[in-house]
Amino acid sequence: MAGFEPRRLLVTGAAGFIGSSVVRHVLERAEASSTVERLVVLDALTYAGHRVNLSGVDRDARLSFIEGDICDRRLVETIIADHEVDAVLHLAAESHVDRSIESADAFVRTNVNGTFTLLDVVRRAWEGRAASTRFVHVSTDEVYGALGPTGAFTETTPYAPSSPYAASKASSDLLALAYFKTYGLSAIVTNSCNNYGPRQLPEKLLPLMITNAAEGKRLPVYGEGKQVREWLHVDDHAAGLWLALTRGAPGHSYNFGSGEEMANLALVELVADLVDDELKRERGTSRRLLEFVPDRKGHDFRYAIDASKARAALGWEPERKLALALADTVRWYLANAEWRKTVASDEHRRFQAVHYGARPARSEEQTP
Ligand code: NAD
Ligand code: TYD
Repeated sequence: MAGFEPRRLLVTGAAGFIGSSVVRHVLERAEASSTVERLVVLDALTYAGHRVNLSGVDRDARLSFIEGDICDRRLVETIIADHEVDAVLHLAAESHVDRSIESADAFVRTNVNGTFTLLDVVRRAWEGRAASTRFVHVSTDEVYGALGPTGAFTETTPYAPSSPYAASKASSDLLALAYFKTYGLSAIVTNSCNNYGPRQLPEKLLPLMITNAAEGKRLPVYGEGKQVREWLHVDDHAAGLWLALTRGAPGHSYNFGSGEEMANLALVELVADLVDDELKRERGTSRRLLEFVPDRKGHDFRYAIDASKARAALGWEPERKLALALADTVRWYLANAEWRKTVASDEHRRFQAVHYGARPARSEEQTP
């Protein structure tokens, strides 16, 4: 399928969970790798961004790592001009719902103002070059709000965000689409369901539960654990983002989802069993760490994605199934204790302590 061929690509937020998978996809997968001459990474290395996430792939001579803020207009202008950037995959964001409930300042700053800065710089730099440029704005299904027990979000579902995080992402999606309509910027928006896989900071549900179970700490399930999420492997998302960049139509949105839904409690129980099996513990050891804690404010009941547009228009198909890939994911976190230490910044620990209460691990409580 003929499409857009990015040559000089900027990836924002590439030291984070999904961005680092995207960089690996672009530099290591032959069909992507062949067109890209230069890949510039712009990442502020917040509590969520770590250079270790790019280890190995950062030896590729095409990669330039720039530590900096997407809100820094002058820096963004310089990068776009100096590197002759013709394509942007924009992933930099504040991404954790619970942190946005504690304080939304950084979410509005980075997700709204930062995205505005990027859009505004590229629309000036790329004026008259819509056919030879692309801007992919990476977003979430949370912009659509909550579903009941049935149905799925399509690209035409009205936006109804619940959390400050989701509202900030919704705002930035709308800005990207407005820049297409107003200025003809070749902007594309993608909305994915929850991702899982290696290198996700243990503040999100799955890595938190895996690492807590491994360390004998409590497994805090919000409310009754009945909320439902759809789970897509991060590398399948990265492949979809590449296809959105190279085959997507400017002005369009594409939903990415796996169709694999699970209620939180069932998922946490599954993870607990996988950790026990992997560590050769008696089954049930980790389930005893499970604790129901007060529900998240404004907690969306269910998200589910209709990904038929991405399948038909982009030829995208997720390759991994949760049943196998979740076990691989558990093994990755257990095998990478050094990574876990490296990413546990002071700010990460502060939030965990405030949010969950600085209670001792069950294993510590039992120590006489
Ligand atoms: P993450 O928190 O792991 O990574 C975010 C990265 O952005 C970090 O490396 C951080 O240092 C960087 N960053 C933050 N503020 C910045 C700033 N002002 N300037 C430059 N860099 C900055 O997030 P993630 O889970 O990898 O998510 C990436 C993107 O995908 C986000 O836009 C998120 O909204 C979206 N998304 C995530 C999921 C998911 O399940 N994780 C699902 C759908 C969409
Ligand atoms: P999370 O990983 O924060 O992703 P999102 O809020 O973007 O869906 O949470 C996934 C689900 O797990 C969500 O319904 C909230 C729930 N959850 C818990 O029950 N306990 C936790 O400690 C966390 C972080 C999340």
